[in-house]
Amino acid sequence: MTKTPDQLRSARWFEPDDFRSFGHRSRMNQMGYAAEDYRGRPVIAIVNTWSDLNQCHAHFKQRVEDVKRGILQAGGFPVELPAISLSESKVKPTTMLYRNFLAMETEELIRSHPVDGAVLMGGCDKTTPGLLLGATSAGVPAIFVPAGPMLRGNWHGKVLGSGSDAFKYWDERRAGTISDKDWSEMEVGIARSYGVCMTMGTASTMTALADVIGMSLPGASSIPAADANHIRMCAAAGRRIVDMVWEDLTPARIQTEAAFRNAISVAMAMGCSTNAVIHIIAMARRAGHPIGLEDFDAASRKVPVIANIRPSGDRYLMEDFYYAGGLLGLLTRLTPHLDLDQINASGKTWAESLEGAAVYDDDVIRPLDRPIYAEGALALLKGNLAPNGCVMKPSAADPRLLRHAGPALVFDDYPALKANIDRDDLDVTPDTVLVLRNAGPLGGPGMPEWGMLPIPKKLVRQGVRDMVRISDARMSGTSYGACILHVSPESHIGGPLALVRTGDVISIDVPARSISLDVPEDELARRRAALPPPPPRYERGYGWMFSRHIGQADAGCDFDFLRTDFGAPVTEPVI
Ligand code: FES
Ligand code: MG
Repeated sequence: MTKTPDQLRSARWFEPDDFRSFGHRSRMNQMGYAAEDYRGRPVIAIVNTWSDLNQCHAHFKQRVEDVKRGILQAGGFPVELPAISLSESKVKPTTMLYRNFLAMETEELIRSHPVDGAVLMGGCDKTTPGLLLGATSAGVPAIFVPAGPMLRGNWHGKVLGSGSDAFKYWDERRAGTISDKDWSEMEVGIARSYGVCMTMGTASTMTALADVIGMSLPGASSIPAADANHIRMCAAAGRRIVDMVWEDLTPARIQTEAAFRNAISVAMAMGCSTNAVIHIIAMARRAGHPIGLEDFDAASRKVPVIANIRPSGDRYLMEDFYYAGGLLGLLTRLTPHLDLDQINASGKTWAESLEGAAVYDDDVIRPLDRPIYAEGALALLKGNLAPNGCVMKPSAADPRLLRHAGPALVFDDYPALKANIDRDDLDVTPDTVLVLRNAGPLGGPGMPEWGMLPIPKKLVRQGVRDMVRISDARMSGTSYGACILHVSPESHIGGPLALVRTGDVISIDVPARSISLDVPEDELARRRAALPPPPPRYERGYGWMFSRHIGQADAGCDFDFLRTDFGAPVTEPVI
């Protein structure tokens, strides 16, 4: 123990014999809390991202009681502070518009209240980075409780994966190979329980990376939401955060640069979501580490994909991953690529935390010498079309498209894409490179997950299921295909994507990590000079603030004023 009760942050509110503290204590009495309940005890904020419209966090209404039970058992005092929920499937135009909103809310909730530590309850895509960004800046001890993946989907005895199978069978429906009845039966079979998407989408990627960075109880991220082990994990996290407060085990002590490098290696081995690049860069930089796209590129050349989880893998889902040994099993395979001296929320090093961990199914978690893809999950491409880089997931693309040149077919924005992509007279072949612009952080706005552009219906009917697609959008982690994303700088602010015209040849060479628009520089300069100024996306409200402060994808899309190096540190509130 390094802290004594009088050193608790909450003591500043509750202990002084002065007028303000009288008010704080009398208002605790008003809620029925006696002095014995909370004085001299760590007060733990439970930042709960539950909502009635967040399917992935539906169990958090019960799980928060398990977290509270653990906190009470360990001698802490739990207080639930709800935060914006960010349901990936419902919040429009995109949850990415609100990741930083949740980060701000989390930081300010913690800072402004009399709390000594925080339990962060999240999991659905942006909730994980949002909560962690906020907790990092708030700086009090914090532990992340992941929502856990939902059960496998089921339809006619076939396993269905979140997102991935919806996309896949939607194409089959467009091609006329499955019936309307099949489609509506899938609707009731694909999402069978609470919990996050159970493919290796953004949610399962980010909860696993939060775990590797050290912000959860080790291995917590792999436990299925509906498994009783999940309930016990919640109570254990509640018990643990109380000790973390006494030990003063803050995010700064856990989130080292090496911890983030471990996360990047694990991301590559898991077949991670492309969204991981944006979130990990933002999180690392908030924690004060100069992580960038080049760190992902370096890892992608060294660490093979060994988690055989869809969409990079061909069969398995997160439930299978758990039974095969889960994240801890995966880490035992990756030890040559990890720094195991780093600690996690348990207070132990990873070397200690992996004692007894094992892999129970070599087909789900492959040995390093039998990977499902010989390089890492992601490739970072650069060239005159993306001077600050762009991202793709070659492990989930048709290998014949990894070296490709073809004529562009340009859509100026998402409505234009939607209105035209299924036209029978669309001038398109399997070699065409589909381009979508005005879908980036400012142009989208919010960088929506539009990057897996639909294959034109005309080609779907001919049996085409993959082609090269380029945009400044993101794509769902459950998506797949030769989709090149996060082109930076984005088109809305005049990035080179704005200069492409239908018919221009675009070449990509993934092994060489290059992407180029094969148009002479003087012609590009002429086009650049003729670009009209971008129309504003928002003229009031949160969107207005977002537009003025959002960073580009290669820098993690943080707000400039939230960056740790922006201005003097925020001090503790005056009480
Ligand atoms: Fe919540 Fe996919 S919709 S994780
Ligand atoms: Mg998603």
